Amino acid sequence: MIQHSVLKTAILVSAVWLSLAISAEDDAIGQALYTGCASCHGQSGSGLSAMNAPSIAGMTSDYLSRQLKHFKSGLRGSEAGDTLGAQMKAMTNTLANDQAIDDVSSYISAMPITGQSAQIAGDLRRGNNLYQGNCGSCHGGKGEGNPRLNTPRLAHQDAAYLTRQFNNFKAGLRGKHPEDRFGRQMKMMANMLDSPQDLQDIIAYLQAQNSSGNSP
Ligand code: HEC
Ligand code: HEC
Repeated sequence: MIQHSVLKTAILVSAVWLSLAISAEDDAIGQALYTGCASCHGQSGSGLSAMNAPSIAGMTSDYLSRQLKHFKSGLRGSEAGDTLGAQMKAMTNTLANDQAIDDVSSYISAMPITGQSAQIAGDLRRGNNLYQGNCGSCHGGKGEGNPRLNTPRLAHQDAAYLTRQFNNFKAGLRGKHPEDRFGRQMKMMANMLDSPQDLQDIIAYLQAQNSSGNSP
């Protein structure tokens, strides 16, 4: 009896140890894979606006791995005219398979949220109203994103990147493919705004959330 429970404990301990060892190993693999990303997205995942590369630190691993799989399979970054999307699509060649994508995604999602973006001018009050009326129900009141609705965070994101993505959805450069379920959802929403000024005010509002307790 005693021997039995000792054995059980031993098995349990080694199972726990093994799963810890495996997750540590996945982290190390994720970290190694990320070295190929840092030249554009920064060591901390903050993004580098000079490289047109967005902030990715702390995004959910679901969102990250979906985007990487979409780039790799051509659901994103293959429409004619989407030059920067195509550039990122080429980078997914360094990720051999879904396992590699999942490993690097979980590594990036564990990084503290950080971004770098030049502050843009805009009417914050108007931006707040437009944002809450058209975007907040899906992306969260402060642009923090909502995993249950599969939406990414928009706060702490580069203004030029947000503008480009929004316009890409609108123009059908992103979210057009029939299998891009969530991209198609966002594409419909991109028709909600009337003018570039609306988007600029919204982005100014989002940037104002960066310093007001929206970090983890
Ligand atoms: C040569 C520069 C470059 C390298 C290297 C690079 N990226 Fe990118 N990445 C970009 C650019 C540019 C975009 C934005 C594409 C667009 O505007 O559509 C992007 C977009 C992304 C996105 C989409 C983010 C979002 O909010 O939807 C993810 C995720 C991503 N990259 C992850 C990675 C990972 C992981 C690696 C390393 C395996 C990597 N990138 C390497 C330039 C790069
Ligand atoms: C019905 C829900 C919904 C609403 C409302 C909505 N979005 Fe989205 N949005 C999404 C989803 C889902 C995605 C992720 C698409 C994907 O996975 O490719 C997204 C993605 C985005 C992206 C891409 C971010 C990135 O990191 O690449 C931007 C920019 C964006 N939305 C801006 C807006 C703005 C601005 C509004 C308001 C005018 C808005 N969204 C309203 C669902 C929504």
